[in-house]
Amino acid sequence: MDNFTFCTPTRYLFGRGVENEVGRLCKNAEWKNVMIVYGGGSAVKSGLLDRVTASLDAEGISHISLGGVKPNPTDDLVYEGIDRCRRSGADALLAVGGGSVIDTAKAIACGVPYDGDFWDFFAGKAVVGPALPLGVVLTIPAAGSEGSGNSVITRLDGLLKLSLRTDTALRPKFACLNPELTFTLPPYQTASGIADMMVHIMERYFSPTEDVEVTDRLAEGLLKAIIAEAPKVMACPDDYQARANIMWSGTLAHNGICGCGRREDWASHFMEHELSAIYGVTHGAGLAVIVPAWLEYVSRIKPAKVAQFGRRVFDVNEHDDTAAATETVCCLRGFFSSIGLPVTMKALGIEAPDFNLLVSKLHENKGPQIGGYITLGKEDTEAIYRLAA
Ligand code: NZQ
Ligand code: ZN
Repeated sequence: MDNFTFCTPTRYLFGRGVENEVGRLCKNAEWKNVMIVYGGGSAVKSGLLDRVTASLDAEGISHISLGGVKPNPTDDLVYEGIDRCRRSGADALLAVGGGSVIDTAKAIACGVPYDGDFWDFFAGKAVVGPALPLGVVLTIPAAGSEGSGNSVITRLDGLLKLSLRTDTALRPKFACLNPELTFTLPPYQTASGIADMMVHIMERYFSPTEDVEVTDRLAEGLLKAIIAEAPKVMACPDDYQARANIMWSGTLAHNGICGCGRREDWASHFMEHELSAIYGVTHGAGLAVIVPAWLEYVSRIKPAKVAQFGRRVFDVNEHDDTAAATETVCCLRGFFSSIGLPVTMKALGIEAPDFNLLVSKLHENKGPQIGGYITLGKEDTEAIYRLAA
């Protein structure tokens, strides 16, 4: 096991009605003027935004709002948000939505006190210093941004989708998680979120670091729970208990606990980010296509951990590691298909993928080699994209 530090300062409020606590939470934090960030309308339609503003009003917290965040969020709205925050003197942000909304709010939060271009942080030209504090009301369990210090934004100029990772600077101060808010999710978004959280665990599980049994077992337990609960939420969208289990899994998958003590991988996320930047696909659905192809490729080189994953998570019975790894890839593809996700680029709607563009942008953005479990260069990543076609 490697040395590590783990700090997750976010206060989680979980259960029915917790979004009504927002006003009290802001008041306790001594926030006086918040900017509410939300998406394309689901939070308006469901009445959630009204409940959140009523809670703020009840505590005398002033607020302005910035709506219209789109999935795979872009830099244009971040610039607008920074400008409006500065002009209104907002002292905190409140994200009401999913990963795209939260990530937009995080980018605004670090951009407001910074004299330069907020994109400097994403391009690695500057390190995040002071940032406005942020609270979250989560509406989709998927990206895990409610518990992570990360933000993923696409720069429209050049379609660059990059992630910014911070330790604690951008972790939300609080996150309200009410499973009932997820009853209205369309099946495709529910399933994509499930794939995303599973892959957040796998990116940490597939590691070259040995002897991380506790972290491995945490990861396997979470994955087994997700696999058991997923069919229930797909069959019955208002099954509160199943939605609750999936929602909490999404947070634990990405708040860092499954990575403690080991090097992580992240090649599949890097490869998917090119798909969603270029073709605009839903992030989790893109992962359902890339990850089985990645697993198939790395199985040929290093099957042992894949076999362990299959035996412990999917109850694969094969004794030989190579055979067990092959069976594991089938189980993963089969599981994603069973919840209605595409497992090929064609099924994802990408009929003729531009492999040259995908590979060149990937390595331009992420460097000549990616991946912690197995180091992948251009030939490897092209082979994986082709396996995913
Ligand atoms: O915009 P609205 O109308 O709200 O609709 C959204 C959106 O169309 C809808 N939705 C959300 N909650 C709903 C709902 N519809 C009905 N009822 C509800 N309760 O779902 C759609 C997707 O929303 P989005 O926020 O895009 O989903 P997600 O949470 O999957 O976020 C995806 C983004 O997060 C990034 C991804 O790359 C992608 O850009 N990621 C962020 C990470 C992080 N910050 O740590 C890590 C992840 O790996 C990921 O890369
Ligand atoms: Zn993800």
